[in-house]
Order: sequence, then C-alpha cells, then structure tokens
Amino acid sequence: MPQAEPDMTHVIITGGSSGIGLAIASIYAGRGARLSLIARSAGMLDQAQHELRAKAASASDIHTEAADVARKDELEAAIARCEATFGPCGILVTSAGIVEPGRFEDLAGDAFQRQMDTNFSGTVHAVRAVYPGMQQRRRGKIMMISSGAGLLGIHGYSAYCASKFALHGFAQALRSEARPHGVDVSICFPPDTQTPQFERELALRPREAATVMGTVSPWPADAVARKVVAGIEGGRFETYFGLTLFLLGRFGPAVRPVLNWWFDRAIARSSGGVSKRGR
Ligand SMILES: NC(=O)c1ccc[n+]([C@@H]2O[C@H](COP(=O)([O-])OP(=O)(O)OC[C@H]3O[C@@H](n4cnc5c(N)ncnc54)[C@H](OP(=O)(O)O)[C@@H]3O)[C@@H](O)[C@H]2O)c1
Repeated sequence: MPQAEPDMTHVIITGGSSGIGLAIASIYAGRGARLSLIARSAGMLDQAQHELRAKAASASDIHTEAADVARKDELEAAIARCEATFGPCGILVTSAGIVEPGRFEDLAGDAFQRQMDTNFSGTVHAVRAVYPGMQQRRRGKIMMISSGAGLLGIHGYSAYCASKFALHGFAQALRSEARPHGVDVSICFPPDTQTPQFERELALRPREAATVMGTVSPWPADAVARKVVAGIEGGRFETYFGLTLFLLGRFGPAVRPVLNWWFDRAIARSSGGVSKRGR
C-alpha cells in the first residue's frame, strides 16, 4: 500500500510550548507538518521542540520563536521569520493566553490589561500578521482558542471573560469578511483542561467561581487538541466541548436570566447568606 504523504502545511501556533498549544503541535508533528511555535520562554520552547521531535511520526520540522504576543512589532517580526523559514502560514492557531482570577476591585489595573493584551490583542496581532497573505493566496485557516469563560461571565474572572468574549466578536466579524477570500476563521471554547495554566489557576480560583463551575474533572489536553484539530479540518466556525458548553454556546443568551438567578442563589448559599435580590 502506498504510504500517506506527510502533510507539509506550515502550522504556526502561538502558545505552542505548553498545554493545549503543545498538544495541538503534537498532532501536527505526528503528521509531518512544518511547525512554528511562538511563546516567551526560550527554555520552554526548546523543551517543547525536543519533545515534539521525539514524538513526530514523520520528519517534522519545528521552528521556534521567543516573542510576546502582546507586543505587535515583536510578534510580527517573529511570524515573518517563521514564514521565511517554512513558507507561508497555512494554519494559524492562537493558543497563547493567561488567566489571573480575582474580583474586579482586587485585580490591579495592569493585571486586567495584561489579560486583554495577551488573550485578545495578542490574537489580533497574530491574525494581522498572517491574514493578508492568506487573503492573497485565497487559502488559509485561523483557529482562535477562547474558553468556556468566553460564553458565560464568571464571578472573579471579569478580565479573563472580557478577553475571551471579545475574541468571539472578533471571530464572528472576521469569519464573514474572510469567507469570500477562501480563508476559514474558527473559534473554540475549551472547558477546564489539565495544563500548567489550569494548575496555577485552580490555586487562585475564587470560592464563588468554584461554586458556580462545580467539580467537573478537567479534560486531558490531548482530547481538547483532537477536537480543535477536527474543527480546523472541518472548517467549522465554532467548536464546543461537551453538551453543557454546546448548549451554553447555542442558547446562552436565552437562558442567562435563569442561570444568573441560579448562580446568585448558589453563591449566596455557599457564603451562608441570601442573595440580595433573591429574597
Ligand atoms: N487550561 C484550561 O483549563 C483552559 C480552558 C479554556 C481555555 N484555555 C485557553 O487555552 C489557551 C492555552 O492555555 P493552557 O491552559 O494550555 O496554558 P499553558 O499551559 O500555560 O500555555 C500557555 C502558552 O501560552 C504562552 N504565552 C502566555 N503568554 C504569552 C505571551 N504574552 N506571549 C507569547 N506566548 C505566551 C505560554 O508560554 P510563555 O509563558 O513562555 O510565554 C504557553 O506556551 C489559553 O488561551 C487559555 O486561556 C485554557
């Protein structure tokens, strides 16, 4: 039987050195894609490159660039070097992201801004760097990693939710603009996922948020990555994980008054009080 040709697509992944981004990189490495990983820590990038080379089923090429997605010029220069190395970007995955929980009044202004700059503006900068080329070539796929917190405002996550909700609006508008140019724009809303970020976040998760989010086990990063890659391949605009988030994505605005009532009550009960408006 003839061997399947390795997929030589150039895949650029911001946040590809860890967690969900690394798990997505691992899938593409297994297919022999040319991979560019972008993150800030050069040490983590080296480690990821080493790990991926060992796992790659075929001779995948892996290029790394240390850059901060929040810095537009730095990121554009990094992406230009990726494209000079492996050719035009065929698939962009924006997974670089941070979460710093805390009530709005407790969250320092720069912590709020950092989450917007990384999660939202960092995605916009990456898209801006590859989109004109994709438009010209009339092909390309862009996948933005949002979050379940991009579907529902969660107590203690005002900055993170704002940054992930903003991505949805950006993706919706860009999808419509990009479609006639042969470019697929997608977004996904992962649930809690077992990654280094999740471990750090759990330690800081406010009690009220834990009450609302319950004690559902986090998804393994490779399971999330498989669904993300299926979403990219299918050119699907939105990818959800599990029935609850699917229903929230499809019917969230309609059921929000009930959810707000339910969550306010749960939070008030967990703190031994009564919801001010729920009496
Ligand atoms: N884990 C979850 O439960 C979960 C759930 C829903 C959505 N998400 C989203 O999924 C994405 C990946 O999260 P993860 O859990 O896989 O986190 P992770 O393991 O901490 O990985 C985050 C990646 O982003 C990079 N990064 C962070 N800030 C950056 C910046 N300013 N510039 C460039 N790279 C940056 C990190 O590398 P450096 O730190 O070296 O830069 C790392 O490679 C995030 O967008 C997150 O919001 C995660």
